[in-house]
Amino acid sequence: MNAFVTTHRPFDVRQAEINPDHWYVVAASREVSQQPVGVTLWQQAIVLYRDRQGAIHALEDSCPHRYVKLSDGKVVNDNVECAYHGWQIDAEGKCAVVPYLEANQKLPTCKVKTYPVKEQDGFIWLFPGDADRAVQVELMGLPEWDHLNWIASYTVIDTKAHFSYLIENLMDMYHGHLHDNWQAWTGAILNDLEETGDRVDAHYQAQNYYRIDKIWSVSQLFIPALRRLHPDPLDVSYVYPHWKSRLGDDFKICCLFCPVSPTHTRAYLVHFTSLNSFHRLHKLPVKFRRFVKNLMFNSARKLLEGLVEQDVRMIEQEQQAYLENPAQRPHELNRALVSVQRLIRHQAEGEGVKG
Ligand code: FES
Ligand SMILES: [Fe+2]
Repeated sequence: MNAFVTTHRPFDVRQAEINPDHWYVVAASREVSQQPVGVTLWQQAIVLYRDRQGAIHALEDSCPHRYVKLSDGKVVNDNVECAYHGWQIDAEGKCAVVPYLEANQKLPTCKVKTYPVKEQDGFIWLFPGDADRAVQVELMGLPEWDHLNWIASYTVIDTKAHFSYLIENLMDMYHGHLHDNWQAWTGAILNDLEETGDRVDAHYQAQNYYRIDKIWSVSQLFIPALRRLHPDPLDVSYVYPHWKSRLGDDFKICCLFCPVSPTHTRAYLVHFTSLNSFHRLHKLPVKFRRFVKNLMFNSARKLLEGLVEQDVRMIEQEQQAYLENPAQRPHELNRALVSVQRLIRHQAEGEGVKG
């Protein structure tokens, strides 16, 4: 046998594993109630539910009896009750009730996998990796979500593509070209790029279409003629595994990733519009400011949906082209994407990565 024959394949970013030792976003808070809900994170089926105190629990979505989905069941006394024979699994993953247990039988000692999970800033964050490391790893967080000076809107991205295509789309501000009438910025120029083990920060200068300084500024969303281009910094960051950005002082957008499989990615795209210019509003009672914030919640959702539809179309075409010809290499000119791919590789090969 030739000693120099090796089975090691070169790294391919389109097949990169996730680094499981991070907090991923698996649901929006409002999607999880006392009715169990099934989600998938990197090919792991997970059931989420709330107990009577409102706390979230996350278990492997598989009944230890015959491996049907626990998410088809319901919550009974803070346990998940399987739909099939009514076994109940508690929040620690232990079998708590078998309704037909005979007097001489003991409860099975099976254990369903549990996951560290947190509810913060409107979303459910789950740590799929080494549970002992979860406390040491910070989650990105969205401080604007509850802040009275920011209006939030969000939509779901669901694309049949590897997560690398989505993050590259978000880090490449030269793709404003695609968005036509939805476009928020134009004329991006990449000025600075910083790269560390956990993040890539790309600083562009761009022309911003929107300015939020009048009470009727929201009408710019619907009437393009009201938009006036003006220069603004456009900063985008890959804070592994998520993304955040800032366009001038008035807009922030985050993308919270839930890679489902090597060819399927879900994410939440969250948009924040600033009310910082409205000084008189800030002097009003907090109750009224909260009312305004809630009233305007999701006002930019249509805009987000329009952007996402266009992006997803391109991303899925990229994935298809890759599947048809994996050896084909794109002619990439944006150096931010070289950094993004290096970070994905670093994370995929990093400590704590599964087999
Ligand atoms: S398969 Fe779940 S109780 Fe039987
Ligand atoms: Fe886009």
